[in-house]
Amino acid sequence: MITQISSISEIRAHVARLRENGKRKIGFVPTMGALHQGHLSLVEASNKECDATLVSVFVNPMQFAPDEDFKKYPRELDKDSALLTQLRVDAIFCPTDEEMYPVGYQSTVDVTEITKLWEGAQRPTHFRGVTTVVLKLLLAVQPDFAYFGRKDFQQLRVIEQMVADLNVPTTIRPCPIVREADGLAMSSRNRYLSPEQRIQGVSLSRSLNATKELSNQGERDCQKLRTTMHKILEDAKVGIDYATIVDRRTLTELTTLDRPAVAIIAARVGSTRLIDNCELDAN
Ligand code: PAF
Repeated sequence: MITQISSISEIRAHVARLRENGKRKIGFVPTMGALHQGHLSLVEASNKECDATLVSVFVNPMQFAPDEDFKKYPRELDKDSALLTQLRVDAIFCPTDEEMYPVGYQSTVDVTEITKLWEGAQRPTHFRGVTTVVLKLLLAVQPDFAYFGRKDFQQLRVIEQMVADLNVPTTIRPCPIVREADGLAMSSRNRYLSPEQRIQGVSLSRSLNATKELSNQGERDCQKLRTTMHKILEDAKVGIDYATIVDRRTLTELTTLDRPAVAIIAARVGSTRLIDNCELDAN
């Protein structure tokens, strides 16, 4: 079994020993566990580039609103650890809530602008929780590279912004979305879907594919692209939170596809909220 470390001082000491033993590039994959192929692809990306890879498993209470699924979020450290054993992972950092947020804890990290949009508008306290925990994890592990999936596109942008703004000495590596055979983007929350809901959920990737195809054919009018996106989602009877085209850097909504963009969707299938996206090119 892979070494499991739950204290911040021990993970720091462990990484320092790795460096003393000649591991020059340390890679880090932060997760909330319930690992799937998407997470494993991040580990593989780290293994390719780094001399040692560490994975954190921590279901971060700060990024869940009181009415969200913190309590029911899957926790399966033994299964996660067994999965990671098949890959070359040096250690799992699995702190307790008390280790990360001891009694009296009172500091947070806020990226103020791009967090107001989309996921941030729907979940006003979410990104504060994400940036706070990610900075704490980066300070604990002090990796050279940290790997994040593009599926949570806004999360990735927010983390890139934080790392740039605060001069965090870790390079963020965005990694491709991993999909199920039917196109559904992999997510630990997919397990909440019934077979019927699962079919509805596939409409997100179908909507994105159709949008990409239209844009590849030369369509530059984002209103027309949006209409296509919405039609497919409405036909599948999912509850649309948003489905639109945004600037890839600022995340502001576009009227014309005249710069690097991303089509983003958040939709509800029953009580499960799914998100997905696909990058669109202007040329
Ligand atoms: O994407 C996730 O799983 C989480 O938001 C992260 C980055 C591990 C922070 O808790």
